[in-house]
Amino acid sequence: MVNENYYPDIKKIIKSKISFADVIKNSPYFSSNPEIYEVLSSGGKHTKDQVNFLSSFIKKYCSGKKFLDLACGVGRHSRVLSSKKFDMTGIDHSKAMLEIAKREDKLTKYFLSDIRSFSVGKNFDAAFCLWSTFNYLSTKEDFTAFLNCVHNALKPNGFLILESKNFFRQMPKLEFRRKEQNNKRFEIELFIRRKINLKNKIQDSIYVYLIKDKKKNKTFSLIDTELMKIYSVKEVKTLIKNKFKLFRVLGDYNMKQNYTASKSYRMVFILQKA
Ligand SMILES: C[S@@+](CC[C@H](N)C(=O)[O-])C[C@H]1O[C@@H](n2cnc3c(N)ncnc32)[C@H](O)[C@@H]1O
Repeated sequence: MVNENYYPDIKKIIKSKISFADVIKNSPYFSSNPEIYEVLSSGGKHTKDQVNFLSSFIKKYCSGKKFLDLACGVGRHSRVLSSKKFDMTGIDHSKAMLEIAKREDKLTKYFLSDIRSFSVGKNFDAAFCLWSTFNYLSTKEDFTAFLNCVHNALKPNGFLILESKNFFRQMPKLEFRRKEQNNKRFEIELFIRRKINLKNKIQDSIYVYLIKDKKKNKTFSLIDTELMKIYSVKEVKTLIKNKFKLFRVLGDYNMKQNYTASKSYRMVFILQKA
């Protein structure tokens, strides 16, 4: 099913020090098929849990309601938060993803921008970057540029929430699984081939989507690859240095659950502007 030719040449990419954020810029999934992302991601339990967590966090720890959604994609979090009267700004470098975000949500201010070089205003109470997206920032330069932009955008003592899956809990070997999704218009079968290399701190994946568009009576496939850098708590602590302090590391979207490498499902870093 999976054509090995589509597999990225990891060694070459690592050697060349190309940022994974630049590799993902060409992803067909984000740049030309955002409808599929919308079907697979929005409206699910994760979105609900994440939004509930974000809104209770900001109510408890922030004085205002000005929120920045970094790499917002189709805006699945911003659209719910803006409907709950949060003042939302979202940025993403995919025009196609933002088109859907704007179509679904007229309240959030959406900007086409790279999270490593944005400037969309100041005095945000908090910013968040969810769904393992900061893991595309694979170089120290990427991560530092990103942190500098967020630092400029936040109020004094403002928060940055970074969230990823807990790579350390997964089996560090080849994985193959299949998932099916159905909605009114699309029937989607997704095949994932994934390698987690804890020594190199890299996850690389191939996704093969078989998609039936019932409206257009058409079936097509989409193949995507993705590289992610696996960040440990120690590494994040080193990278944030004097710009941010580590407020909490949670194991899920829940302030009561502290992160533990062997057990937690997610890694939720809560950083506070120093
Ligand atoms: C996995 S999706 C997550 C989207 C959203 N945060 C969510 O949870 O649904 C990754 C998103 O990050 C965007 N992205 C990746 N690298 C980016 C960068 N350097 N600057 C801006 N957006 C970026 C992609 O275009 C895509 O919309």
